[in-house]
Amino acid sequence: MIYGLTNSKGGVGKTTIAVHLAAWLAKKKRRVVFIDADPQQSASTWIKELGLPIELHQLATPEEIFQRVTKLKTVAHDIVIDGPAGLSTTTRAIMLKADRVFLPCGPSILDLRALTKAVALLKEAQKARKGKPTGALIPNRLQKRGRLSGEVLRAVEKIGVPILPTLSLRQPFADAAGQASVVWKMGILSRAAAYEMEDLLEEMTRG
Ligand SMILES: Nc1ncnc2c1ncn2[C@@H]1O[C@H](COP(=O)(O)OP(=O)(O)OP(=O)(O)O)[C@@H](O)[C@H]1O
Ligand SMILES: [Mg+2]
Repeated sequence: MIYGLTNSKGGVGKTTIAVHLAAWLAKKKRRVVFIDADPQQSASTWIKELGLPIELHQLATPEEIFQRVTKLKTVAHDIVIDGPAGLSTTTRAIMLKADRVFLPCGPSILDLRALTKAVALLKEAQKARKGKPTGALIPNRLQKRGRLSGEVLRAVEKIGVPILPTLSLRQPFADAAGQASVVWKMGILSRAAAYEMEDLLEEMTRG
């Protein structure tokens, strides 16, 4: 399975979710390749420091993604691609290679409006590839015990892309990279974050 994390906006949680997804799959003894397709390479350090059997590749251009992903597919059970912010040709390439694309986004109506272009790109890819990749929104950074407002839920419905379990705004998510860890390994104070992340990852990998 090839998973791609993309969005038109930066700082929405792509890297946080991509690294947790890769660690989760590795924990399940899957052979995992992680592709850091962001020139900032913030995921690469984190993946290396985790010390898990995850094969890391840094692919910055669409050409590299097209060529290498096809080859890596033959040796990996799963490929996780952490995309750059924005709708570059790299983001387009990810949408053309992935089986599942996830769009993390903030929980406000403004965040959702900013998604429109990413969703248009996704739908273009789906049209070209007879329905592939599947796409889903991941609302991130909800205020504690917060819920998506009715206004936001109506906007999501209009966008026409399924919505996955949400992640709250929680310190352990922000601390995980600095601790070279993932939230389910960070002890009792991270338990709520771990439950949320595991819920989300179950849905992302289902079927
Ligand atoms: N649910 C959350 N609660 C608290 N902090 C979060 C949460 N999700 C992400 N963060 C923090 O927000 C910042 C941005 O997250 P992240 O780097 O995962 O986003 P990104 O979409 O990959 O950003 P970029 O576009 O710059 O690559 C990071 O400092 C991260 O630790
Ligand atoms: Mg990132």
